[in-house]
Parts: sequence; structure tokens; C-alpha cells
Amino acid sequence: MPETAELPDGVVTAVRGARRVLVLTGAGMSAESGIATFRDAQTGLWETFDPGQLATPEAWAADPALVWAWYAWRIRLVRDAEPNPGHRALADLAAHREVAIVTQNIDDLHERAGSQVAAHLHGSLLDLRCAQCGAPFEGLPELPEEPVERVTPASCAGCGGDVRPGVVWFGEVLPEDAVRETEAAIGALGPGDVCLVVGTSGIVFPAAGYPSAAAAQGATVIEVNPVESELSDLCHHVVRGTAAQVLPALVTVLDEG
Ligand code: OAD
Repeated sequence: MPETAELPDGVVTAVRGARRVLVLTGAGMSAESGIATFRDAQTGLWETFDPGQLATPEAWAADPALVWAWYAWRIRLVRDAEPNPGHRALADLAAHREVAIVTQNIDDLHERAGSQVAAHLHGSLLDLRCAQCGAPFEGLPELPEEPVERVTPASCAGCGGDVRPGVVWFGEVLPEDAVRETEAAIGALGPGDVCLVVGTSGIVFPAAGYPSAAAAQGATVIEVNPVESELSDLCHHVVRGTAAQVLPALVTVLDEG
């Protein structure tokens, strides 16, 4: 269990005073569950591949078995992972404040920790569908025991097309309902509310634009990230710690308040 963090007074005051908390999460949220972030060095078989280049319609068109092998391995990692204390703290936060979670993550660790997620901006790993006709794929195809470089995707029962993960690739549009829910959650914020930005590098838009939209509503924007990100400068407060250290500490101050 990681140690909890010391929180700056301004952060404690802001969180205690908030009625609503919008939580924007990125890959760093799941790092302590053992899921590598996108911009960390990858390990093993995948260390020579840039995830940003695999997550594209072009990569899929050129070599579906390579792209599916990468996602099949991530599905296995996520399935075997557990929510970390940061995920669990956000679920607890909902007992204290109106909480909306908007995530760029394609895993289901928030849900498994007991949170309701307002929006999965980049889709969900397990919402498999046919790449050709769009029909949902029921069930889970067989997953490799070990990372391998090529796995033939399952075939659609209707049209025989290759089955792809339900994620948003670079160049694809975000799910309409996820964007609508996010805009509604931002629109519901007012002065005195808080936007927590957890574990994102802030370089992929539109997600990277949401913290400043929250600030424009009058919310106090707080970053939780062990290192500086592209968003640090626009945040009112930064807490340099990990999700599993900082988020439980935030809930503790509400328990005490
Ligand atoms: P990145 O991998 O770009 O950034 C992860 C961030 O998490 C970095 O700023 C790290 O410093 C921070 N971090 C690492 N460990 C952490 C921890 N334990 N606690 C808190 N923060 C930690 O991930 P995203 O910003 O989520 O998109 O990437 C955005 C999008 O780019 C992804 O959704 C994906 C990717 O390519 C698509 O696939 C469309």
C-alpha cells in the first residue's frame, strides 16, 4: 500500500468547499494497477512499438493481427489487474460530493472500484465490434497467455469482418454520448467547485482542453501527477504525487472535515 500524500492547504480548502467534483483521468490513474501508461517505456515484446502508431485505423488496415495482438495483450493485463487505492478513493468520494468521472482510459478499473463513469472518452477495450459492419461482438475471443506479435482477430458472426476493440483510434471521432456527458459535467460546474486532473500528460485533444473549460466555469483545477504535464501551468494547484497516494488523502480530509 503506497503512503498517502501531504496536501497543500489550498487543495484541502478547495476540496472541502466544493459541491461538485469533476475528475478527469488518464493513463497514470491505472499505472499503480500495473497498466503501463502510453508514454512510459513499454516493456518486453512491445518495447519496440510505439502505442501511438498502433492505435490508428491505418495500422489496423495494414496489419490487423499485429494491432489485435497488442490490444489482446492489454485486455489480458486489464482483466488480471485490480483497481488501486486511487480508484477506490474516487468511489468513496461520491459519498461526500457530487462526482463526475470522465476518463480517457479504456479499462474498467473505475467501475470495478465502484464508481459510475460519466464518460469513456476514448471508448472501452471490451466493447468489441466488427470493423466492417459495426455489429457488437458478444463474448471475449481467446487471449494469448503471453505477449505475442500477431493474433488473428475473431470474425464477425454476421459478415465475417475482423473484430476490433471498442476504442477510439487517432483520427477517429469520439463517441457522441461521451462528449455530450462530458460537456454536461463541465457545464454543471460553478465557482467553488473542483476539477481534479489525474494522471494525464495533457497532449491529446479534446480531452486536454477540458481542464481549461472547467476553469472557465469558475472551478478550481487541481492536478495530481508525479511530474509536470502540459496542463500544469493552467492548474490552480498541483499535487506532485501518484493517484494512489494523493486521492486517498483527499478523501481523508473530507472524512475529517
Ligand atoms: P500518457 O501516457 O500520455 O500520460 C500519463 C500521465 O500519467 C503522465 O503525465 C505521467 O506523469 C502520469 N503518471 C504516471 N504515473 C502516475 C501515477 N501513478 N499517478 C498519477 N499520474 C501518473 O496518458 P494519457 O494522458 O492518458 O489515446 O494519454 C492520452 C491518450 O493518448 C490516451 O487515452 C491514448 C493515448 O495515446 C488513444 O489511444 C486515442
